[in-house]
This record gives sequence, C-alpha cells and structure tokens, in this order.
Amino acid sequence: MLPVSLTVDPAYRVGPVRRRTFGSFVEHLGRCVYTGIHDPEHPTADEDGFRKDVIELTRDLGISSVRYPGGNFVSGYRWEDAIGPVAERPSRLDLAWHSTEPNHVGVDEFMRWTERSGTEPMMAVNLGTRGVQEALDLLEYCNVESGTYWSDLRRAHGTDKPHDIRMWCLGNEMDGPWQIGHKTAHEYGRLAAEAARAMRMVDPDLELVVCGSSASSMPTFGEWERTVLTETYEHVDYISAHAYYWEEDGDLASFLASAVDMDHFIESVVATADAVRAAKKLSKRIHISFDEWNVWYQHRAESKPPSGTDWPVAPVLLEDRYNVADAVVVGNLLISLLRHTDRVHAASLAQLVNVIAPIMTEPGGRSWRQTTFHPFQQASTLAVGDVLQVVIDAPTYGTAKFGDVPVLDAVATRDPETGETVLFVVNRSTTDDVALDVDLRALPGLRVLDATSLSNPDHTWSATADDDHSVAPRENATAEVRDGRLVAQLPPVSWNVVRLGS
Ligand code: AHR
Repeated sequence: MLPVSLTVDPAYRVGPVRRRTFGSFVEHLGRCVYTGIHDPEHPTADEDGFRKDVIELTRDLGISSVRYPGGNFVSGYRWEDAIGPVAERPSRLDLAWHSTEPNHVGVDEFMRWTERSGTEPMMAVNLGTRGVQEALDLLEYCNVESGTYWSDLRRAHGTDKPHDIRMWCLGNEMDGPWQIGHKTAHEYGRLAAEAARAMRMVDPDLELVVCGSSASSMPTFGEWERTVLTETYEHVDYISAHAYYWEEDGDLASFLASAVDMDHFIESVVATADAVRAAKKLSKRIHISFDEWNVWYQHRAESKPPSGTDWPVAPVLLEDRYNVADAVVVGNLLISLLRHTDRVHAASLAQLVNVIAPIMTEPGGRSWRQTTFHPFQQASTLAVGDVLQVVIDAPTYGTAKFGDVPVLDAVATRDPETGETVLFVVNRSTTDDVALDVDLRALPGLRVLDATSLSNPDHTWSATADDDHSVAPRENATAEVRDGRLVAQLPPVSWNVVRLGS
C-alpha cells in the first residue's frame, strides 16, 4: 500500500470551473457524422436524420461546446456545398481522409443538432485551400441578420434568425506538413491576422482561436507559437493546442503519466504567449483552447485512411476501442486541464462519436459507451464552482518517457454556494493500492456524500455494444472522513471521484 497525503484548501483557488473545458469535436471523418450523429434510417432519427439516442448520450456526457467541421477535413472544405436542398448538393473528394463527402450535413443541419444536444458550436474556417473572403462569406451566412446575399440565402434555406456563432477557429493544424495548404508560421500568422481583422469588422465580439502546434513534439513547437502570436496577438483571444497520447506499447508506466506531458505543453504555451505579450507591451492575455485531446492508437490499422481509387463515404476510421487504462489516462488529462483553468479556457475531447470517441454506434442499430465516457461524464457533471490546486505528497515511480513522476495526481473543485467539494484522483501505480489521507482542516464539517472508483483487475478490459456497463465507476466504500481527514483506499490503475458535503 502506497501512502499519499493531500491537502485541499479553498485558499488554493486557481480559477472558475469553465463549462467550455468539457467540449468535444465533430469532424466529417469516418463515421463521426454519417452513421454517427446522423443516420436517417435509424429508428430514433429526427426530421433532419439525427439520431436521438446519440443526442441523449451527448447530453448525458455533459458536452458543452462542439468544434466543427474539422480537423484536417476543414482545410479542403467548401462550406457552400453543404447548404440548401440536400438533393442538389455535390459530392466532393475529401483529400484529408481519402473519402467522399456527400454534404448531406452542413452548417444549418449542424446548428440544429447543437440546439437539440444543448451544445455550443465552435466553427472552424478553411485557411488551407481558401482564405479571408470565404471565411467572411461563412460568417455573413451564419451571423448577419438579413439584407445581404449570404444572410438572405440562409433565410431562404429556412433559418430566419442568425446562428450567432461566437467561437471561430482560424484554420486547423497549419503547422502540420499533412495539412492541405500547410504553411510556415510566418505565412499562416499573416493570413490568420488578416482573416481575424476582417471577421471582426463584421462582428467585433467574436472569440477567435489561432492555430498553435498540433503536438508538443513538432519540430517547430514553441517557435511556431511565438511567430504566429507575434503576427496575431492583437486580433485573437486563444491559441489552440492539440495532443494525442497513445498506447501502452509495453510501457504502461509512461502511458499512465501522459498528463505530465500535457502539463508541460500547457505551461510552455502560456510562457510563450506571455513572452510575446511582454515584448509587445500589452496587458491583454491570450488563453489556450485545447481543442483536440485524447488517447489515440495512431499506428493501428483502423487509423489508416483508404487509398488508391477507393474513396468511400463514411468508412470505418480511427475507431479505437478504449480500455480501463485509457479511461484512467483520459481522467488524468481532465485533471490537467482543470488545474490550468486560469489559462485553459476551452477544450475539446476529440472526437465525440465513433472516431476516437467515448460514444460508439452501429449503423441503424445500438449506441454504447466506451470506458472513456465515464471519467468525462463524472468530471463534466460534478466539477462546479472553483478549481482548487491540491497539494500532493506522494511517492514517485520511474518512467522511461517522463522520468520520476508521483504515483497519484489530483485536483479538487468546490461550489462556493453549497460548499460541495469534489476530489478527482488517479492512482497511476500499476501494482499497488494507494492509502489516501487528505487534510481537510480548511474545510470543516465535510462528510463523504459518495465515492466511486473505476478500475478492473484486468486494465485491458474494453466495453462492447453487448457490455458497456460491467466495468464502470463503482462505489468505493473505503472512503470516509475521520477527525477532519478523508481516508480512502484507491486500487491500482484507477480513476476515483469523492464527493464531500455537509
Ligand atoms: O482528430 C483527428 C485528426 O487529428 C484531426 O482531423 C486533426 O486536426 C488531427 O491531426
């Protein structure tokens, strides 16, 4: 048993819990849109062909905002193809995923889906094959009331009120050589600044996200952020970060410590943004939109796009099956995002359905929850109020990728109105229980309202359509408050949530 001491104190407030931390991502990729959120043949399909069972799961997951329509897809996208009568819409080659895009779902349908799923849209514009004018046209179509070509066309297509989209991404992963229209930091920074300036002429209150690095391992990481922000700082609000942590590859210890890398990524981007701020002698701060993050088994066959003359519609792509260890890592990445709530103001779990996703569907059939659904759902629904930094005194273990790391990671949230305090904890040990001892002297009178652990003797257990429930968060009866201290026993490779109240 590994002894770990924590201190939870409302004095260690980092900032508010932000609903946008619990965003996700719907890309025209594989079966995320077609047979994912949209399946007109499905028994639960609504008048637009959207699956109501998936809408219910999206609500249950507590998703706040949804990035759309890509991803790599957006860098070759012509948004005008996907408006107006569906039967008249052209099919196009999607070069990013070597697929055929039928354009049955476009911006108007997606906006109706966000209303039904209770989510906020986060729209990306194409700065790969297109530029300022096309971004302006889309903005006019979406946000202008009436009396112009594009706004009247939207009305003619049946949407009288503007969509009024607040958050806009200025392209996607433009640092990546795989991106259609890939650019140098200088080329992209200039284009993004001009797009941002023009978009703000239409609507000065937009919240704009400029592309940061697509991974902290990119050779241009750091310098990319510095150059792009030097060009755009005055015109944008956020810089994006993308990170995918993948696979055990025989090194479970390193994999379980993936959040160390996310911490490093966030802190490096913050430092770079603040250095540009200092050089420009500005007071405004740039925040991070961590708008793609997840575990992704990129080397597996299901991540390989079709090739040659095969250009299928909605192929099976990136349909990773997540196990218990993956869910623990996802929980730990949420802890990292929450503890940086002062600078991470939005985040998107990539993606929502079928494509590296917490929700899976059978075409025309069942929908089900992956293991990663649970930590996200618990964090998105239980984290309320303020985020509290937790002081951790824990033994460390050695990892090949990140050196010595603490066996446990944690963050707390506290609702100042009700006093309810929630502790989110992962035990990264692959072998040992943790004996948790939490100093709650600064929060007198608390008792355990409930405590759960997600773990399994076989951490490789994955859910299926037939069984998505036999491994899920279960009551942890060892948690109790004694003399102002919370004590609990946490199993190895586990995600744990303790809710405390009076
Ligand atoms: O989420 C899958 C892909 O990962 C996205 O299209 C791209 O932006 C990233 O490289």
